[in-house]
Amino acid sequence: MKLFPIILAAGKGTRMNSSLPKVLHPIGGKSMLQHVIDTCRTLDADRITIVYGHGADLVKETINSADDLRWALQEEQLGTGHAVLQAKEFIDEDAIIIIAYGDVPLVKTETLKLLENDIKNGSDLSILTTKLKDSTGYGRIIRDEVTGKMTSIVEEKDATDEQRKVDEGNTGFLAAKGKDLLRWLKEIKSDNAQGEYYLTDCIALAVKEGANVTTVLCERELEVLGVNDRKQQSILEREYQRIQTETLMKAGVTLIDPARCDIRGQITAGKDVSIDVNNVFIGDVTLGNNVTIESGCVIKDCQIADDVNIKANSVLDSAIIGNNCDVGPFARVRPDTVIKDNAKIGNFVEIKKTIVGEGSKVSHLSYIGDTTMGEGVNIGAGTITCNYDGVNKHQTIIGNNVFVGSDTQLVAPVTLGDGANIGAGSTITRDAPNDVLTLSRSKQLNIKGWKRPAKKK
Ligand code: UD1
Ligand code: MG
Repeated sequence: MKLFPIILAAGKGTRMNSSLPKVLHPIGGKSMLQHVIDTCRTLDADRITIVYGHGADLVKETINSADDLRWALQEEQLGTGHAVLQAKEFIDEDAIIIIAYGDVPLVKTETLKLLENDIKNGSDLSILTTKLKDSTGYGRIIRDEVTGKMTSIVEEKDATDEQRKVDEGNTGFLAAKGKDLLRWLKEIKSDNAQGEYYLTDCIALAVKEGANVTTVLCERELEVLGVNDRKQQSILEREYQRIQTETLMKAGVTLIDPARCDIRGQITAGKDVSIDVNNVFIGDVTLGNNVTIESGCVIKDCQIADDVNIKANSVLDSAIIGNNCDVGPFARVRPDTVIKDNAKIGNFVEIKKTIVGEGSKVSHLSYIGDTTMGEGVNIGAGTITCNYDGVNKHQTIIGNNVFVGSDTQLVAPVTLGDGANIGAGSTITRDAPNDVLTLSRSKQLNIKGWKRPAKKK
């Protein structure tokens, strides 16, 4: 049987108090809707339909469109039942339809598979429920007192005091065959407290028909918690980070405090990696064996090889770092930087679009941009590549075994030949030849008889 998930994502999310549509708010740096799409993708689904409406253009633009996505516009948000009906043209009569919510980001593939299997095993309508400590806002699962079978879902606003006491809530996720779902949906009315077409009214209709309605209980409340406000968003962010850091620790990474490590993307790590507190990893980060990350770093889209030490408070973006390198503390490594084996980038150094050759050192207080640097180079403190003339960027080429004295400006385009030596305090505007000393410093004067100014009376 084919499987077509439909993700409801048209709601406004009033309680977020935001101009961003709710389903675009992030958990772990990724929009909630993208989380749900990615999970649906692991289901072996034939196509995924997204019902969108509030912030339509932005939602569609933000989500990377792909061949497997279909978009159904719900112009007016008249309720979850109405939302599903907007996707009518994508509902195959014989397929299994799974309804998912774009604001419930942590639902797992295994859980959705349980709903699918229920239908495959003869259920007509399978509902995912959960036991709640606080069921405020949830539709309550109403069961027959004698048989224990589910008879309906009552929305909180329509519930009696007695029904409100029920601690089993509707997660919103359900599965049914396309033809059944369409038949029930056509009968739904909006004569309820919210004047909405409730998807949840399908249950009572199915029961009335004598259909086989079943439930799957999700034990982990946080897996099916929906985000309606910023507090719930923060709860799920923590839960997501807990799951991520647990996976990392299982893979053999030491996290000094997992509650103070945030992963907004994926980390692949080798053996004996140690990560101190307050680090943020963004995008795709690869860490080799024996990598140490001291506290307070932000590392985005980087490949870091073996035996590297990233010292405290460094910010690295889109860089490739070779074996046995030291970076930081307080280093800023900007995109398109390659740091080869055994190199060292020290404190208060900014590096951009640069290749740092094997064993080269930029130890203190420098800006190196648009530069290709050879092996065994030593860049003195306070060296600046003047790569920008106000209009264009220019290249600095530094050969092997070059020594650059402190407080030097290299005015690009400029080339320093192999073995070149630049005297401290020079402004280099022309190429420096191989193996000689190049200086552009003004001569020192020692003035005899000069007196310090005295304070006026
Ligand atoms: C819904 C369920 C409730 C369940 C709860 C779980 C109904 C009637 N109620 O209530 O039983 O316990 O979720 O979180 O189904 N949406 C649309 N179009 C609309 C309305 C909603 O696409 O016209 C989407 C929203 O973007 C959201 C989802 O459907 O992703 C749920 O909508 P929401 O307004 O949060 O429903 P709840 O009141 O929470
Ligand atoms: Mg909700």
